[in-house]
Amino acid sequence: MRTMEDPITVEAGEAISLEDLVEGWDGEATVVRRARAVEGVIVVAVHSTLLGPSAGGCRMRTYGSTAEAVHDAHRLSSAMTQKFAACGLPFGGGKSVISVASIPTDDDRRALFHEVGELVESLGGVYIVAPDMNTSDVDMDVVGERTRHVFCRTESAGGCGSPAPATADGVHAGMRAAMGHVFGTDDPKGRVVLVQGVGAVGERLARHLAADGAEVVVCDLDRARAVALADEIGARVVPTDAWIGEPCDVFAPCAAGGVLEPSTIASLRCRLVAGAANNQLRSPDDAVLLAARDITWVPDYVLNAGGVLKGAGLELLGWSPDQVEARVAGIGTIVASLLERADRTGRTTLQVAEDVVAERLADAAAARARHT
Ligand code: NAI
Repeated sequence: MRTMEDPITVEAGEAISLEDLVEGWDGEATVVRRARAVEGVIVVAVHSTLLGPSAGGCRMRTYGSTAEAVHDAHRLSSAMTQKFAACGLPFGGGKSVISVASIPTDDDRRALFHEVGELVESLGGVYIVAPDMNTSDVDMDVVGERTRHVFCRTESAGGCGSPAPATADGVHAGMRAAMGHVFGTDDPKGRVVLVQGVGAVGERLARHLAADGAEVVVCDLDRARAVALADEIGARVVPTDAWIGEPCDVFAPCAAGGVLEPSTIASLRCRLVAGAANNQLRSPDDAVLLAARDITWVPDYVLNAGGVLKGAGLELLGWSPDQVEARVAGIGTIVASLLERADRTGRTTLQVAEDVVAERLADAAAARARHT
């Protein structure tokens, strides 16, 4: 099952070998293990440990082949390196995927996550696992019965609970900073903000913006959800196929990825795009198209780091809730500095985010070289 959010460039049936994938990747390690509890395969990809142990979610889904699963783990793990480096956390990029014929339940699911825990434990802390698509904080509690190298468990098990509220708070802080850059004031009062997708993150973001006095417009595939929220916070609802032409100051994609591509970019009627959805650009060239239309785009992996700051901060770094809150609010400072550098250098916001990541990794590599 593929989604727009999750493009896999290795097409089903395409002859790409595991050998090519492993040799052609710039990451550090790929571990593939048969999942004995179900008919499946567990893959752990460690992209980088330059900034610290690798960390990232465990995604479970159906893949066409083990090569596709490995390719996805590689891609997602590289993205985690960027995310941690961009928000200044001392972790490297890692990811795991479980390739299954169907999503397991009950005893099979427990046995599967025990296997995941055993595999993670066998890696001795090089990779720290968390939930992702089709896996949950409850699954991480089960993983935690076999390894310490896990985060984002349930609150009752000592974990941080849902990362979504912190993600929404970080998007809100970053969006306000971006408004300050684009409109000369970070006050959302009177600004029209279109929130696409009012799930766990989008709903809280819309509530924050309504409380700020913004004119909030929402859309969601689940129209009843959008209408209920709109009634409560005084927002307006637009159909999901009408968001592109909707005039607004800010567009906040908080649903699926891949929403920014040449045809949608050409039709956008906003000055700023700032939302939580992962992988908003279909291709890096889309950042150039946005800049050419004088639309400021805040890179998703910078803006949506609040959840990871909370999970890693509370569970792995021993931060207090106040420290987490301050770091999540600090996404505003990171965004302001990124947008200022893009203006000063004439580079796109995507290029600047990549520059910052490359600089942090180069510094860490130089420091490591000095100590060896
Ligand atoms: P969610 O699943 O709770 O909510 C997504 C909402 O978007 C749902 O209400 C769904 O009906 C709606 N939706 C899906 N496709 C749509 C479309 N084409 N048009 C309009 N509405 C659509 O997901 P959540 O947790 O709120 O995450 C939202 C986005 O933020 C996702 O892309 C996710 O990957 C990303 N993200 C979430 C984080 C978190 O902490 N939850 C962390 C970082 C990124």
